[in-house]
Amino acid sequence: MVKVRVPGKVNLALAVGPVRADGYHELGTVFQAVSLFDELTALPAARGEFHLSLQGEGADVLPADEGNLAMRAARLLAAHATEEVGVAIQVRKRIPVAGGMAGGSADAAAALVACNELWQLGLSQPQLHDLARQLGADVPFLLHGGTAIGTDRGDRIESVAARGRCHWVLALSHHGLATPAVFREFDRAASPGPAVISPELLAALETGDVARVGGLLRNDLQEPAIRLLPELGEVLDEGRDAGALGALVSGSGPTAAFLCSDADQAAALGRRLVGIAEVREVQIVHGPVPGAQIIAEEVAHG
Ligand code: C5P
Repeated sequence: MVKVRVPGKVNLALAVGPVRADGYHELGTVFQAVSLFDELTALPAARGEFHLSLQGEGADVLPADEGNLAMRAARLLAAHATEEVGVAIQVRKRIPVAGGMAGGSADAAAALVACNELWQLGLSQPQLHDLARQLGADVPFLLHGGTAIGTDRGDRIESVAARGRCHWVLALSHHGLATPAVFREFDRAASPGPAVISPELLAALETGDVARVGGLLRNDLQEPAIRLLPELGEVLDEGRDAGALGALVSGSGPTAAFLCSDADQAAALGRRLVGIAEVREVQIVHGPVPGAQIIAEEVAHG
C-alpha cells in the first residue's frame, strides 16, 4: 500500500497567449500549490487488474474508469513496467471538481507517484514529468508543487524562490466550469499578444512582499469565466470590499481565491463569504506546499 497526498493549486498569474497548432494556448503562469489536499492510496491487485474508487468531493459525478485521469496515469505508467502489473486505487477528494484548482490533474500526479512506488519501477522525477506532460498541462506542476512558473502549455516548470506564506480564502461555487469552454470564451473576445509573466510579481514573491503580490494578481481567464458565470463577479467584489489584499478567479474557475495578510484576516473573510448564497463552501488554506508526496507506505510480506 502506498498513500500519496497531493495539493490543489491557484494561479497567481495566468497570461494567455495565442492558440497553437495543437489547439493549446501558449501560457505564462505562476502556480502556487495550496493546502487543500486529495489523498490517493494505491493497493496491490492481480496482474492486469486496474480498479478505481472515489469518495468525498464530487465522487458521485466523477468517472471511475478510463475517463478518470488518475486511471489513465496508472495505465500510462504500467506501459513502462517490464512485467504486467495491477493496482486498486482509492481517492479521497477534497479539491473541488471543475473548480479551476486542477483536482483531476492532482489525482493523476498522485497516481504516478504512488504506482511508481507500488510497482518499484524506480522512474526518476524527470521521467515522471515527461509522463505527466502527456496526461495534461497542469499535471507536471502538481508533481513539482511549491510556487513555480509554467510556460509553453503551462507544463514547462521552473521553481520560484518565493519567501513567506500566503494565506488564502477559497470560495467554492455551486457550479463547475469546463476548462475548454472558458478558453473558447477567451478566444471569442481576445486577440492575445505574447503570454508574459510580470517581473514585478516575481520580485514581490521573491522578497515575500505579500501585500504587493495581492495587487499584482492577474488572470486572463477571469473575465471569460465571469461572462459564463456572472455571479462570480459578485463573489470577488465581496472579498475586495472586505479588504482582501487581492482577489482572483483560480485558473479557469469558478473557485474564487482571496489573498489575506494573515490567518486572522483569512478567518474573518471566510466567515463573511460563507454567508453569501453564491458560495457553496469556504476553505481557508495556505501556500506554498509541496507537490505529490508519499505520506504512508506498507510493504506486503509473503
Ligand atoms: O491539458 P488539460 O487536459 O488539462 O487541458 C484542458 C483543456 O484546457 C484543453 O483541452 C484546452 O481546451 C485548454 N487548455 C488550453 N491551453 C493550455 C492548457 C489548457 O487551451 N495551455
